[in-house]
Amino acid sequence: MKIAVLPGDGIGPEVTREALKVLDALALPQLTLFEGDVGGIAYKRHGHPLPAETLEMARAADAVLFGAVGDPECDTLPREYRPEQAILGLRSELGLFANLRPAAGFPGLEDLSPLKPELARGIDLLVVRELNGDVYFGDKGERDSAGGREGWDDMSYNEAEVRRIAHSAFRAAQKRRKKLTSVDKANVLETSRIWRETVIELAGEYPDVELDHMYVDNAAMQLVRSPGQFDVIVTGNLFGDILSDQASACVGSIGLLASASLGERTTEFGTFGLYEPIHGSAPDIAGQGKANPVAAILSLAMLLRHSLGRDADANRIERAVAASLSSEIRGADLGGSASTQEIGDAILRHLQAI
Ligand code: NAI
Ligand code: MG
Repeated sequence: MKIAVLPGDGIGPEVTREALKVLDALALPQLTLFEGDVGGIAYKRHGHPLPAETLEMARAADAVLFGAVGDPECDTLPREYRPEQAILGLRSELGLFANLRPAAGFPGLEDLSPLKPELARGIDLLVVRELNGDVYFGDKGERDSAGGREGWDDMSYNEAEVRRIAHSAFRAAQKRRKKLTSVDKANVLETSRIWRETVIELAGEYPDVELDHMYVDNAAMQLVRSPGQFDVIVTGNLFGDILSDQASACVGSIGLLASASLGERTTEFGTFGLYEPIHGSAPDIAGQGKANPVAAILSLAMLLRHSLGRDADANRIERAVAASLSSEIRGADLGGSASTQEIGDAILRHLQAI
C-alpha cells in the first residue's frame, strides 16, 4: 500500500502531521509513505506549484493524502503559478471526477450549527459533486453586445459524464441509507434535462436505491428547512460547489469536514483517490498551533475506506473523533483552547481505547 502525502501550505502540514500520527498508530502492514511538495512551498522550492515529480508520486500511489494549498506571498504570481492551481491540476491529471463530501452532525456540537439543534442533529448526508465538467470547463469569453461588454460561459454535460458520476452516487447510496436525490434545474436548462434523463435511465440498475429529483433552488431551501430528509445528493459541478458548502456550514466548523475526490481507476484495495479537508491553508492561524486537525484525520478515514479497503480502521477513527469531540478537548474554532497537537493526541488516546 502506497500513500502519497502532500501537506502543502499554511496549516496543511500542521493538520497532516496529526493525521499521520493516527495512521502510524494503526500500524498497517506493508504501508509505504511518500512525501511531496505541493502549492506555494513547491513553487518556492521547484518553481512550480505542481512539480512533475509530485504528480508522478501521486500517480504511482494507491491514494493521496492532501493538506491544503494557498500562500498570500504567491497571490501576485501569474495564474499558472498560483498554489491553488496544484489542486486543480491534480484533479484533472488524475481523472478525479467525483467529489464526495459527507456532512453529519456531531453529537454535542449542535449549538455550532446555524440551524436549530434538533435539525442539526438530523444531518447525515453525502454530497456527490461532479468535478471535471459543467460551466467551469466550457468555452468562455467576452464579446461586445448592445449592453456593453458581455461575458459568456458554455454549460454542458454529455451522457457519458453524467453516467459515471451517477454510478458513483448510486453505489455510495447503496452503502448508506439507499436514498439518492439528483439535483438539477431541468425546468429551464437543457444540460439538466440530459442530466435527469440519464440518471433515470441508470436507476434500473440500482433497484434497491430510492431515487428522487429536486430543482437546485428547492434543494438549497430544503437543506436548511429539513436536512434530515437527505441521504446522498448527486449534482453537477456548479450546483455541487454551492450546495456542498451550504451543507458543510449547516454542520458547523470548517475544521471538521473531510472530502474525497475519486476517479475510475481502481487499485489492488479499492478506488484511487485524493483526500483532503474542505478547508484551505488558513494563513490567519498558520504556525500558531490553532488549527483543528479533525478534518484531516477524517480525510484519512475516508482514504482508508475508499482506497485501501480498510473499513474497520476507518470506523475506528471516526468513533475516536466523535468520542474526542464530545469530551472537553476542543480547539479555538469550537470555543475551546486545545492546540492542534493536543487534539491529535486526544483522538489517539480514544483510538487506542477502541
Ligand atoms: P480557509 O478555509 O483557509 O479559512 C477560512 C477560515 O476558517 C479562516 O478564518 C481559518 O482560520 C478558518 N479555518 C480553516 N481551517 C481551519 C481549521 N482546520 N481549524 C480552525 N480554523 C480553520 O479559507 P480562505 O481563508 O478563504 O483561504 C485561505 C487560502 O486557502 C487561500 O489561498 C485559498 O485559495 C486556499 N484554499 C485552498 C483549498 C484547498 O487546498 N483545497 C480550499 C480552500 C481554500
Ligand atoms: Mg467551494
